[in-house]
Amino acid sequence: MLRRSVLLAFTLCAVVRGQQVGTVTAESHPALSVQECTSSGSCTTQQKSIVLDSNWRWLHDVDGYTNCYTGNTWDTSLCPDPTTCATNCALEGADYSGTYGITTSGDALTLKFVTQSQQKNIGSRVYLLDDDSTYKVFNLKNQEFTFDVDMSQLPCGINGALYFVEMDADGGLSRFSTNLAGAKYGTGYCDTQCPHDIKFINGEANVLDWTPSDTDSNAGTGRYGACCIEMDVWEANSMAAAYTPHTCSVSGQVRCEDAVECGDSPDHRYEGICDKDGCDFNSFRMGDKSFLGPGLTVDTSQTITVVTQFLTADNTTSGQLSEIRRLYVQNGQVIQNSKTNIAGLDPYDSITDQFCTDQKEVFGDTNSFSSLGGLQVMGESLDRGVVLVMSIWDDHTANMLWLDSNYPTDADPSQPGVARGNCSTSSGVPEDVESQSPNSQVVFSNIKYGPIGSTF
Ligand SMILES: *[C@@H]1O[C@H](CO)[C@@H](O)[C@H](O)[C@H]1NC(C)=O
Ligand SMILES: *[C@@H]1O[C@H](CO)[C@@H](O)[C@H](O)[C@H]1NC(C)=O
Repeated sequence: MLRRSVLLAFTLCAVVRGQQVGTVTAESHPALSVQECTSSGSCTTQQKSIVLDSNWRWLHDVDGYTNCYTGNTWDTSLCPDPTTCATNCALEGADYSGTYGITTSGDALTLKFVTQSQQKNIGSRVYLLDDDSTYKVFNLKNQEFTFDVDMSQLPCGINGALYFVEMDADGGLSRFSTNLAGAKYGTGYCDTQCPHDIKFINGEANVLDWTPSDTDSNAGTGRYGACCIEMDVWEANSMAAAYTPHTCSVSGQVRCEDAVECGDSPDHRYEGICDKDGCDFNSFRMGDKSFLGPGLTVDTSQTITVVTQFLTADNTTSGQLSEIRRLYVQNGQVIQNSKTNIAGLDPYDSITDQFCTDQKEVFGDTNSFSSLGGLQVMGESLDRGVVLVMSIWDDHTANMLWLDSNYPTDADPSQPGVARGNCSTSSGVPEDVESQSPNSQVVFSNIKYGPIGSTF
């Protein structure tokens, strides 16, 4: 009887353990200040911090120094199945600057592309924290979000991104009892691509069907994907920039469990729960090829202020999201967004449902944005609240050509929608950009949010 109860206690204890926290390096979040503005035009500084996504972290056995994951493979004895792995393995604190090339100073965040220490780190993804264990949640309807970006050291093939996703504010800690790490360790990422490379989803390791990447020595894909609505405010380099809402049929973070639900390309791309294409506004793709770039109207060789307004039909925070408008500010001048210049498309300079419908039709693209609810659904996500993500990355799937070159590469670039930037179709190969442009970086600074017209 005694033995039985001891065993039971031990089992219970084992059940509540999972996706644990290591003790080798203390997790210390780099400080970053942001400003909240009011309609009277005054802004107050808030001291916040950022946290590195859990996928980048050292994952090792709870009591020692043995890797649970090395390169792009799992240790099969520590990680024979999703739950045992979550019990056996711990996420470690991060050396932000030394290992990952992430630094902050006041209101500025610098993300370096390649960082060589004992190992070589490529890119990073960080989230804005409200406090040490909670992501800051933004409700952006009838609000404006503004930041400065320096992309002068971001060449073809590299993306310095700032965007929002509908992650759990605590990183899934309360919803999944086997996630003991939470937002403090950057867990719970999701987006509309339903990425399969996330190592832990819903507090379980993504070890089933794990396939190491052929081209990425640090990544692989598992059976499950991590899906949620995504608002890409800024995906860009010195050659091109896009802003893109993407919707899903689900709210919050959802684990997709098969190829159809996950919308895996190419066969199921338009059958999944999320809209992978989104409704993009890239000035170059929309027909103004000399608007944004080095020395152009919006000059990417200098710092740019990027303003994004989430307008509603009745100008209230409870109204339906009706338009996402972009403005730039540089050298004291407010620069209106470029206008579309495409045969058969009315001149638009912002994202509305009508723009999305017309753009998709002229380009011959599938309008999954609209079929999954369009701006109304995007607005419902902004009501529930979204988390701010900033990242620097290269693209093992499409060499970033969808952003900055002709894509699809075999299509006629004179056809509407194909040309997206002046980068060569042979650019953006990760191996090339990592060896030729390791010192690339993006600087995001001066983040401000508040009512329309209050931040610039
Ligand atoms: C792309 O190339 C054309 C032709 O050389 C040039 O006029 C334009 O400014 C370039 N645009 C960008 C974004 O580099
Ligand atoms: C909302 O604000 C815009 C810009 O100030 C204005 O043009 C529009 O008429 C307003 N709409 C409503 C319903 O008040």
